[in-house]
Amino acid sequence: MNKPVEWEAIEAARRNYPALERWTYMDVAGRCILSRATRAAIDAHLDERMMNGGDKEKFFALIERARGKFAQLINAGPDEIAYAKNISDGLNMIATAFDWKRGDNVILCGDLEHPNNVYPWLNMRRYGLEVKSVKPRDGHIPVDEMVKLIGRGTRVVTVSTVTFAPGFRTDVDTLGRACRERGVLLLVDAAQSCGVLHTDVRKSNIDALAVSTQKGLLGLYGMGFLYCRREWAEKLQPAYLARFGVDLGEGAHEATMGDDNFKLMPAARRFDLGNYNYVGTAAVDASLTELLAYGTPRIERYVTGLGHALAQGLLDLGLPVTGGKPGPAVGTIVTVGRMSADHYGASDERINGLYAHLTENRVKLSIRRGVLRFSLHLYNNMDDVERVLELTKTFLKK
Ligand SMILES: Cc1ncc(COP(=O)(O)O)c(C=O)c1O
Repeated sequence: MNKPVEWEAIEAARRNYPALERWTYMDVAGRCILSRATRAAIDAHLDERMMNGGDKEKFFALIERARGKFAQLINAGPDEIAYAKNISDGLNMIATAFDWKRGDNVILCGDLEHPNNVYPWLNMRRYGLEVKSVKPRDGHIPVDEMVKLIGRGTRVVTVSTVTFAPGFRTDVDTLGRACRERGVLLLVDAAQSCGVLHTDVRKSNIDALAVSTQKGLLGLYGMGFLYCRREWAEKLQPAYLARFGVDLGEGAHEATMGDDNFKLMPAARRFDLGNYNYVGTAAVDASLTELLAYGTPRIERYVTGLGHALAQGLLDLGLPVTGGKPGPAVGTIVTVGRMSADHYGASDERINGLYAHLTENRVKLSIRRGVLRFSLHLYNNMDDVERVLELTKTFLKK
């Protein structure tokens, strides 16, 4: 494959990831590996806590700095970003902030969503919400079916930007346009795209987006953010409320108690609760610096190029790559085999054998819903792709 010159800078990122000395790491869809810079930021935060107790003003400055970087990453405003502990936290913030009435409905594709984007909605049925689920089409979320289902009672449409299996990209732009025209909130679960594929919430007409930091954002577990577009956030009422969600004016202390007739913070800030995950924020603040320096459009082009080369190579070896020849729905996740309900094994013994062979040879990947899942990020390169193809060829000859 011809390598554009700009790839060389991204390839240099590899040196910052010591795990690559041990592993051919293709499992960011499970969790990322940490860079030396991110580890150093975590250590610096913990050293400060251990040696000096820590300075709250500095911690708050860190929170605002990282909030600004999250916003920049997805083309939002800082006020449109709230802190969350993971994706389900962010999704539930939206699901519980509506004043549901009988006759309201949400549209999703239950078979392809992670359970964490299904249960929050099933839980709202007790307030009268109806959950309308469309069936997948050849492993894809059928956006056109969702648009057709939008009716008078539809308040929310929710999809994963990329499914965790089989890893196809959803046509969010088409859905975004349709939802915006109809005044319906489009909420996306960006677990499998944010940080590795370019996200522009304005261009895609995304109203709310939930993400965690341990995958494409190259940070830790127990940390994430929720984007909510100002116009929507200011119509929503958070189910949980604490001091940081209340507007007592700039500079008011965190322990100040205001009037009982409180005013909510602007936009998504109203979803912030009490103290933050400072160590998780220190980690992602460092990794966001790296992601923003390369820029997600560049990262997307680079990593998608690797994904397509891997998919094509596996197809050439005769393997059942999901979706066949890589097209626009294939990004940075490549899956092989037939989908089933099983998370840890495939129905095809050959696929299980290949998984074992790759794992024994220090390739890190996963099996989800019966398919082998290879997932890539900026620290991967063509050598990784070629190594996996070589190992696969050896396995198939056995
Ligand atoms: C699409 C998707 N949504 C959600 C999650 C996990 O959600 P949470 O951050 O709440 O654990 C995953 C994790 O693999 C995922 O792939």
